[in-house]
Amino acid sequence: MSSEIDPQNRNEISFRLKQVQAKDVTHSGGRGEPFHDWFPYLEGYSSQFVKQILEAKFNNPKSLLEPFCGVGTTPIALAQLGISCGYTEVNPFLVELVTLKAACLKMSPAQRDEAIKGLRNLKMRVSVGERERTHEALRVSYLAVFGTAQYFRSDAFDEVLSLKSIESSIVSDTLLNSFFRMAVACSLLEASLLRRAGDVRFKTEKELQKPIRSISDLVIDKLSLFENDLNSVAQLKAPEIKLLGSNAKNLVLGNAAKYDGVITSPPYLNGTNYIRNMKLELWYLGYLSKKSDLGEFRKAVVTSAINDVSKTSGLLIVDEAKEIVDAVSNSCYDARIPRMIAGYFEHMKLVAEGIFAQVQDGAPVCIDIGDSVYGGIHVPTHEILSAVFGNVGLTLEDEVILRKRHSNRGAALSQRLLIFRK
Ligand SMILES: C[S@@+](CC[C@H](N)C(=O)[O-])C[C@H]1O[C@@H](n2cnc3c(N)ncnc32)[C@H](O)[C@@H]1O
Repeated sequence: MSSEIDPQNRNEISFRLKQVQAKDVTHSGGRGEPFHDWFPYLEGYSSQFVKQILEAKFNNPKSLLEPFCGVGTTPIALAQLGISCGYTEVNPFLVELVTLKAACLKMSPAQRDEAIKGLRNLKMRVSVGERERTHEALRVSYLAVFGTAQYFRSDAFDEVLSLKSIESSIVSDTLLNSFFRMAVACSLLEASLLRRAGDVRFKTEKELQKPIRSISDLVIDKLSLFENDLNSVAQLKAPEIKLLGSNAKNLVLGNAAKYDGVITSPPYLNGTNYIRNMKLELWYLGYLSKKSDLGEFRKAVVTSAINDVSKTSGLLIVDEAKEIVDAVSNSCYDARIPRMIAGYFEHMKLVAEGIFAQVQDGAPVCIDIGDSVYGGIHVPTHEILSAVFGNVGLTLEDEVILRKRHSNRGAALSQRLLIFRK
């Protein structure tokens, strides 16, 4: 299904990308780098990966497009190399995180000193156990969003509410408020009864035997990490990190900015619940105040999980996906799976059209993607995406296997880099 690749080109690019280590194409590759450890985003990759792609494929670009920004690995790595980036990201928590990282990169030494003073003061307020009583509005919204589900032990929950009142007390200091919001949001999961293992789930009895750290201690550690990272990066003046909108499916509607290319990793078609996995963070930050708010996000995301499937998902099956949707329909245990697959490629076609509209002629478009298996049927996402991107006018130039993966049942899968050119 993939378009033809010039073999000579393939060898050259593959050779240069061989220097990429398997860990660089996952989140763990960036451990220890400034900004990277603020939020452990399993779906992310490392700055090293972004740099390797730049070296292999780009020629002095000024500005790139990142439609699926996540925690901002691409724009932050690019900014440090003097390259601007326009991005979209559907999760407002991650947008706040990226906005704060970008603000840190631009701070003058005096602004940094001021910010560090503020961070130290906040640490003090949290460490002396300052309890500005509770935060009734947050308690009410918890009940409205989660009902009786208990995601925290009760003392931990009270602590979260009191941290929210510290946050409310610094609302007029936008930057400090933002640091504090991110420190709490990035600590919530670890302080809860949930854990991230693929998707977020309740900790098992055995896992619960290990002590759960207090959210105040976790927040203090996060604030120290922010201080440390602020001290370790140089001030950048020129490169711009610009939010273009929340939804990559709408890129085609924006003014075409003519970017010099794309480096991105779309959701994999593997069932990851991007929004549900961050329901605690979204609730704490005020983006969820009733149950149906989760549904609004579900409509916006690129369908990639069973829970994203709605009544209208899968009504349109793009030509490139017809064969696989039929095959999976005939063998699958859950009727939502073929609709999820159809929805994914329908959405990715919109994104492909947006990318095509937004990049210059000759621009490289680099897409990190993995395949999957449903009901024993292999879904070659990379091949179908190659056809989808090919049909909007992007030529597949190279395809590099970055890493071997496995399905839950042990079927061999891979992580690949698809390189197109407009
Ligand atoms: C594989 S992750 C990208 C991770 C990123 N490369 C990083 O290092 O952090 C895919 C991202 O796409 C986002 N996403 C899903 N649907 C989207 C949409 N319709 N528009 C914009 N972003 C979307 C998810 O929230 C998720 O953060």
